[in-house]
Amino acid sequence: MKLRPEWNGALVALERPHALVSVNRAWARRLGVKDSPRWRGDDPGHLSAPTEVHLVVSKRCSAGCTSCYVDATPNGPALEARAARQAIDRLAALGVFHVALGGGEAMDLDYLFELAHYARSKGLVPNLTTAGLGLTVEQARACAVFGQINVSVDGVGEAYRRARGFDGYAHAVKALRALRASCKRVGINFVVSRSSFDELPRVVALARSLKLDEVELLRFKPAGRGTATFAQEDLTDEQARALFPLVRRLTFRHRVRLKLDCSFAPMVFWHRPSVALARFFGVVGCQGGNVLASVMPDGSLTGCSFGGPTEASIFDAAGVDRAVESGFQAFRGYAARAPDPCRSCEYLSLCNGGCRVVAAAKGDWWQPDPGCPRVVAFRPASRSVGAASP
Ligand SMILES: C[S@@+](CC[C@H](N)C(=O)[O-])C[C@H]1O[C@@H](n2cnc3c(N)ncnc32)[C@H](O)[C@@H]1O
Ligand code: SF4
Ligand code: SF4
Repeated sequence: MKLRPEWNGALVALERPHALVSVNRAWARRLGVKDSPRWRGDDPGHLSAPTEVHLVVSKRCSAGCTSCYVDATPNGPALEARAARQAIDRLAALGVFHVALGGGEAMDLDYLFELAHYARSKGLVPNLTTAGLGLTVEQARACAVFGQINVSVDGVGEAYRRARGFDGYAHAVKALRALRASCKRVGINFVVSRSSFDELPRVVALARSLKLDEVELLRFKPAGRGTATFAQEDLTDEQARALFPLVRRLTFRHRVRLKLDCSFAPMVFWHRPSVALARFFGVVGCQGGNVLASVMPDGSLTGCSFGGPTEASIFDAAGVDRAVESGFQAFRGYAARAPDPCRSCEYLSLCNGGCRVVAAAKGDWWQPDPGCPRVVAFRPASRSVGAASP
């Protein structure tokens, strides 16, 4: 059992049920923590380090998805194997629990499985997202090293091609079947955009028919090649309001876990759910620089995979320590300076004002998420925002 002391007690990684739970100091003591320097002084208001880091091992991929947020290309940059191991060492020293190996197409790197085993040997659980193109049975078996592996499926059949720009649906389903046979936890990543929204029920039904563990929903982000298509693909206000009721219906109809990424929080809180229900769907708002962080192929450490300033190089131990202790202000600092309607919103402490990357793409990093239905209702349509970056 992996355990990390935090100001209020400790974080504990459980195998069964598979979860990361927060326990108070009394429980932490019962689990063997005698005392921790983190229990002294005032609550810093953030975790001692991220729990989950997205290690973008490469920006290399030949699939050419129309809206790829890392702008991956066939000759994009990649971390050398040695540098990737060094990054893992640093994350292990911070007490990170999960490392999501991503890209680009990480499966194309010859050191991927060796790196995943290396992460395990350092006490980190490696996870993977892949397009699954041409995945062999041997590769699928080797994927058993991952705690969770998700294959991207943004639509069924022809809808997949419309969303991604190439005909990869049959490959993705073949990969999912092979992975289901050899891996513990297998799921689908589905990017929710204006044009893919209506595909969600079919993709969830597919997940059920393949006996998958979850469908993770990612809000379409204006990053990389997605910047150019964001204006057409950003959810309409009607879709933003309809999303959470749809997710609830599909969860109970298909008995498949639907996980919403942190940027969907405003679309959930619009329906005023109880904190318990929000937790059931894993909904917490922007977690950049707190629960989450990201490392790019050049080693830069950022609060979020989709954007935000570089805080340090992952190869600079002192810089990384400074960043986790007092950096990431572009994310951690939002709530304290939030303008209305966030300032007066009862969910601000949970939501953190929605997605900073979307706010920045619409003109101002420090404004409330313009896709939040409450923000839409608050703002006259004609109001314009000044440009400001973190
Ligand atoms: C960049 S891909 C890399 C992994 C792998 N090559 C794949 O296609 O699954 C990681 C995830 O980001 C999603 N994604 C790509 N562009 C996106 C965007 N503009 N907004 C949100 N998610 C996006 C993909 O669908 C995929 O699930
Ligand atoms: S900016 Fe925040 S809400 Fe948006 S994707 Fe990043 S961590 Fe999530
Ligand atoms: S008003 Fe702000 S804090 Fe409230 S739900 Fe919307 S984005 Fe989140």
